[in-house]
Amino acid sequence: MQSESNSTHIPGELAVSVQHLGLTYTTTIDRRPTLKARVRTLGRGTKHTRVVRALDDIMMDVPYGSVLGIVGANGAGKSTLMRVISGILPPSQGRVEVYGKVSTLLALGVGFSPTLSGRQNVELGGLAAGMTRKEIASHFEEIADFAELGDAIEAPMRTYSSGMFARLGFAVAVTVRPDILIVDEALSTGDAHFKEKSLNKIKELRSDARALILVSHGLGTIRDVCNEVAWLDKGKLIKRGEPNAVVDAYEKFLKVGKSAAIDEDI
Ligand SMILES: Nc1ncnc2c1ncn2[C@@H]1O[C@H](COP(=O)(O)OP(=O)(O)OP(=O)(O)O)[C@@H](O)[C@H]1O
Ligand SMILES: [Mg+2]
Repeated sequence: MQSESNSTHIPGELAVSVQHLGLTYTTTIDRRPTLKARVRTLGRGTKHTRVVRALDDIMMDVPYGSVLGIVGANGAGKSTLMRVISGILPPSQGRVEVYGKVSTLLALGVGFSPTLSGRQNVELGGLAAGMTRKEIASHFEEIADFAELGDAIEAPMRTYSSGMFARLGFAVAVTVRPDILIVDEALSTGDAHFKEKSLNKIKELRSDARALILVSHGLGTIRDVCNEVAWLDKGKLIKRGEPNAVVDAYEKFLKVGKSAAIDEDI
């Protein structure tokens, strides 16, 4: 069963190509008028536009058979980059080319309906991903086994802990055997047992010539599973290369000691 779903890609073949990618968010904010302004504008509020350059001229290739780690401070643009690569957000400038089937696991529970049970969500998610009912049924046991939720798989997902959400999300994302798997901070609430299991799964996908992109503040994990790391800051690609070299530079930038970083592993 494993062999028929093995990746057909050759290690080193291009999975994702990001060229001169730019993304600008424009948000209109209602500014609460001061008394003086209210007199001036005859009571109308003023509108203010907040423009954030979340990604600025990013160039990035991701080959098959590799795990690319993405690090960077809060607000650096990591999730935005993942959303653009997943096709959720269109770029403002530049282009993204994806050569394979992408499965994206964004932060907790996105895509799950809280009133439905774990089982129902898996079935709906499978249909939405274009699987047939038969395919879903054949994958269901594998997903349920991997998530190790026991009876809770039949309970509404609003009763799940955040770690239980993460378990089911990860189980679904890896079981559909995507060519390209994007994991954005989704493992952070898993317990030690589940983290280890997920990391082993990630290594297995890597050796099977899948391509993975892993966004995490857990720098120990990034060093452990990634072949390459990219560091983003304020929408720019600061450095990319060998994991230890890039993470060392990033840690220096954060001015945190190694011990502080290890405590926070995903
Ligand atoms: N939907 C949105 N509308 C407007 N601005 C946004 C939106 N999403 C993100 N931003 C802004 O874009 C910038 C990058 O945000 P992003 O979520 O990509 O950061 P991040 O690197 O994933 O951070 P974190 O480590 O906190 O997850 C931030 O300044 C943020 O305020
Ligand atoms: Mg993020």
